[in-house]
Amino acid sequence: MPAIPPNVRGAIITGWGTALPPKVVTNHDLEQTIDTSHDWIVDRTGIHERRVGGSTVGLSVESGRMALEMSGVDPLAIDALVLATTTPDRTVPASSPAVQTELGLKCGAYDVNAACSGFVYALVQAHGMIAMGAKKVLVIGTDTLARITDWSDRNTAILFADGSAAVVLEAVEGPGQLLGWDLDADGTAEKFLYADVGGYIQMDGKEVFRRAVRIMVDSATKSMNHAGVTADDVSLVVPHQANIRIIQASMDRLGLPIERAVTVLHRTGNTSSASIPLALADALDNGRVAKGDLLLLVGFGAGMTAASAILRWGGTTADGADATVLA
Ligand code: UT7
Repeated sequence: MPAIPPNVRGAIITGWGTALPPKVVTNHDLEQTIDTSHDWIVDRTGIHERRVGGSTVGLSVESGRMALEMSGVDPLAIDALVLATTTPDRTVPASSPAVQTELGLKCGAYDVNAACSGFVYALVQAHGMIAMGAKKVLVIGTDTLARITDWSDRNTAILFADGSAAVVLEAVEGPGQLLGWDLDADGTAEKFLYADVGGYIQMDGKEVFRRAVRIMVDSATKSMNHAGVTADDVSLVVPHQANIRIIQASMDRLGLPIERAVTVLHRTGNTSSASIPLALADALDNGRVAKGDLLLLVGFGAGMTAASAILRWGGTTADGADATVLA
């Protein structure tokens, strides 16, 4: 993918929101039903507990509303809604029109399914729409993987969970936050992670692990090259929250200390399309992001897909909205 051309109208994130179902499932809860242990799960994945429940539409409405409120944007001013999800509530239609209606939006609404890379795919698409004239786009990442997880399969039940997070993206004059991006897919690796219609997630964990590190680092490197930056310039990595060992190995290969990665998986598990925006929101809420910081969003997922984006935090819209910083 070539670098972003000069003079393209950019965008900034002016609000964000999150939604997690109230039901907590701990590793100790899983010990009651499958042959596993809290220590094994923590040691091999970093996950302590996860949230389970809710629908894709319901969680999306919750996180989307929170993001709209933070940004102060009138729902009627949103030009498009992009919902990244690999678990729509129905096969037909997409879940986004119901979210659009419940949030009081009057705009196009569609789902993007790139599995755990979905939020970055959607974010890049939203930037494309803004370059083509849209002014405000709501981007949501939501998954309800519990519904397609076989809770008697210890291979997958320890990993997957439900959640949602959203951002409001607003146009700015001139370049915005996005400095470089990369979207990848390799259909030959589909067999390592999939769910048939009506079926449960099937996974070759070892093979997914092996490929995940490689494709995340490859994608991140392409985005950094397009943005004209190096790993040393990156203030914070916001990785897909699949497994702490995958994050650790990727950070090692990028030559970055683990302290520069955002992790929420200990309390969320793997929430697929929601995982990167949940981690981003956590970093923003905890004041880990300052104006001028360079963020690397990077993920991988079923497909197999990979995606990454380099964002320079900051910026102001024509009507005066700032990229919010809570620090
Ligand atoms: O969004 C992408 C989603 N997918 C992923 O990110 C998956 C990536 N892969 C992984 O995260 C890891 O491969 C797993 C966490 C799924 C598995 O970890 P691992 O270190 O690859 O374990 P393993 O499959 O090599 O199993 C090691 C041992 C085996 O026992 P023996 O043969 O050494 O005696 C397994 O039978 O651990 C055993 N084991 C378990 N023990 C307790 C496998 N699963 C479990 C379990 N609890 N849940």
